[in-house]
Amino acid sequence: MSQALLAALQPPPADPILALGGLFAADPRPGRIDLGIGIYKDEAGATPIMRSVKAAEHRLLDTRTTKRYVGARGDRQFAAAMIDLVFGTATDSGRVASLQAPGGTGALRVLAQFLAAVRPEATVWLPDPTWLNHEAIFAAVGLKTAYYPYYDRERSELRFDALCERLRSAAPGDIVLLHGCCHNPSGADLDEAQWRTLAGLLLERDLIPFVDIAYQGFGRGLDEDALGLRILAEQLPELLAASSCSKNFGLYSERVGCAMVLARNPREAEIATARMTVHARTLYSMPPDHGAAIVRTILEDDALLTDWHSELEAIREDMNGKRLHLAKAFRQASGTDEFGYLAHGFGMFSLLTLSPAQIEHARSAFGIYIVEDGRINVAGLPTSRIDDFAEAILAIRKAR
Ligand SMILES: Cc1ncc(COP(=O)(O)O)c(C=O)c1O
Repeated sequence: MSQALLAALQPPPADPILALGGLFAADPRPGRIDLGIGIYKDEAGATPIMRSVKAAEHRLLDTRTTKRYVGARGDRQFAAAMIDLVFGTATDSGRVASLQAPGGTGALRVLAQFLAAVRPEATVWLPDPTWLNHEAIFAAVGLKTAYYPYYDRERSELRFDALCERLRSAAPGDIVLLHGCCHNPSGADLDEAQWRTLAGLLLERDLIPFVDIAYQGFGRGLDEDALGLRILAEQLPELLAASSCSKNFGLYSERVGCAMVLARNPREAEIATARMTVHARTLYSMPPDHGAAIVRTILEDDALLTDWHSELEAIREDMNGKRLHLAKAFRQASGTDEFGYLAHGFGMFSLLTLSPAQIEHARSAFGIYIVEDGRINVAGLPTSRIDDFAEAILAIRKAR
């Protein structure tokens, strides 16, 4: 019998978001709109390099003299600056273990590996719905996952009471994954009171929060978007956090993220860092340097930091402006406030209630590319097309 490795191998199921990007690229229609993959786009549909990033790159080009390995922990000053950015003054930074990782995904995977080693029996509770990659990341390290209710697609609102009820049935020691802000795919975030209620519940039930914060600065502001994580950090003894610099620094291709563990004391934090380092070593050995060096340069320089803040604010205002415009366009075209929730969401994403046939119809008849679960990237919608978009969606909903 043949021992050929590939003889019976089938192709994996297509990643719906990447597959949509492929279809979009092959579509020759000039007016087509890509609302799929989560990148910020300006009015012209471009994702330019941020000014502060360019300036930091120039500085690095002029001053760097070596391309030596950065070590499995990555750049320690970067990792320290990320603790400040994410945790603020919510906790003593000595209690936070941190490690530079290749993107938010790399950070999630290192932390998943860490959890699989220290708490293999735990269930990781994920919000329903959540980012498509979450389940696969935890499955890849052999951890069990389960879902807690998060968002009601029919009513376009949070399911906070159901969320609390389900988490009360989780076993002590289980892990609860939370989106720090700008929930993907719904755009619906917890408010301060809900974060505080949740913190009390996690403490009471002995559950460990794992905060995925991939859009800090895209919702209400850098500190405001970290509020939930900081409330948890103030109240709970332990917490995991995966942060991404892909979106807020526009460093998508550079792969910059940070894996963090809040420990009960500095000694345990040091052990956590050492353990994460071991996992990094076997996963990819060392993270790529360039993007993290850019982030560190910006975070450590007052002028660059100020400029980055203002660039980020402009992006945030643009997205929030698009949300308001979109909700208004739907209100005018439909005569109802059914889509009012779009104005109250945060970050890039929101969900439209459309059937698979309607999503297919949007693509074939209007050149509008929407992810199969109805997720739209609001930032991918040019302002000049918003009114047409609302009318097209309403026409599609009427047709089928
Ligand atoms: C919720 C969430 N977490 C993590 C990530 C990972 O981001 P990165 O590109 O930095 O790996 C994303 C990216 O889309 C995301 O939406």
